[in-house]
Amino acid sequence: MEFSALKYENDKLVFIDQTKLPDEEVYIQTDNYERIAEAIERLEIRGAPLIGIAAIYALALAIKKNTDEFEKAFERLRKTRPTAVNLFNALDQAKKFFYLSESNQNFNALLEFAREYHNSEIDYCNKIAKNGSEFISAKSNKPLRILTHCNTGSLATGGIGTAFGVILELKRKNLVEIVYACETRPLLQGLRLSSFELAKNEIPYKIITDSSAAFLMQKKLIDFVIVGADRIALNGDTANKIGTYSLAVNSKYHSIQFYVAAPSTSIDYNITSGNKIIIEERSPGELFHFGKHSFITTKINALNFAFDITPNELIDAIITEQKVFLPPFDFSK
Ligand code: MRU
Repeated sequence: MEFSALKYENDKLVFIDQTKLPDEEVYIQTDNYERIAEAIERLEIRGAPLIGIAAIYALALAIKKNTDEFEKAFERLRKTRPTAVNLFNALDQAKKFFYLSESNQNFNALLEFAREYHNSEIDYCNKIAKNGSEFISAKSNKPLRILTHCNTGSLATGGIGTAFGVILELKRKNLVEIVYACETRPLLQGLRLSSFELAKNEIPYKIITDSSAAFLMQKKLIDFVIVGADRIALNGDTANKIGTYSLAVNSKYHSIQFYVAAPSTSIDYNITSGNKIIIEERSPGELFHFGKHSFITTKINALNFAFDITPNELIDAIITEQKVFLPPFDFSK
């Protein structure tokens, strides 16, 4: 693929500004952890696994000149976004590594740790794709019509993707008839980013409005739904992009299989159910404009939750790099 969500090159983190896609492929280079924190807040860098990867590179850069900056950078990065547990899992792992021994408390050691973490996320994506595609192809040998939400590909993960990786692997097996991708209001990750990745991978697709999903299901145009995750509780309750819950409810009503694909770095081993998940509430302004474009100028009241929680009973399988988990889910084992 000709684009890269994020890479470490020439002593800088280089990332594609996802707010400008698909119209412009602009790369930002920085060695400033504060700039990376801002990029996560602005969704220039986004997607649960990618946020975790970026945060560890940012920590390494923060201590390049002065190791005393570790704690300050750690606290700053923790505050960027609240829902994706990958951010906290990644930062906590990096902190554990940093304090494990004095030889770990320098830029080169932490940079190497960041690279290893990044590589393991790439590896997890490949395994998720394999596990998911084998599971799905065992049920059907005809090309499938797939519904997905938000963006779960390379842009969100640094690897081939989670739900998107499964789709990619199914396509390699000639098992994709079409992918319907929800536009994903309000920041249009589906319309802008999934369309970009689907096109780059030559996968047949159509973007639909989020509110079209139930109608497509009713018309029997969907064989299964697959989405990613930002945080999975021990009982399988899953936080993902706002709109995921209604897709799951609609899938249950129409007897359509509903799958979640995510690495184990998206599992929160500290919470037993989804009601403990903090859901990010973003600026109401995001509903009225995108980038430079404003839809309206009149002041309107709005509520803008970025994620919702899908209860485990609506999920038919959770596909991780380890295996395909079936209900009843219990990640405490
Ligand atoms: O607000 P975003 O764009 O960071 O939200 C991303 C999602 O909700 C994705 O579906 C999720 O992180 C899974 S990505 C592999």
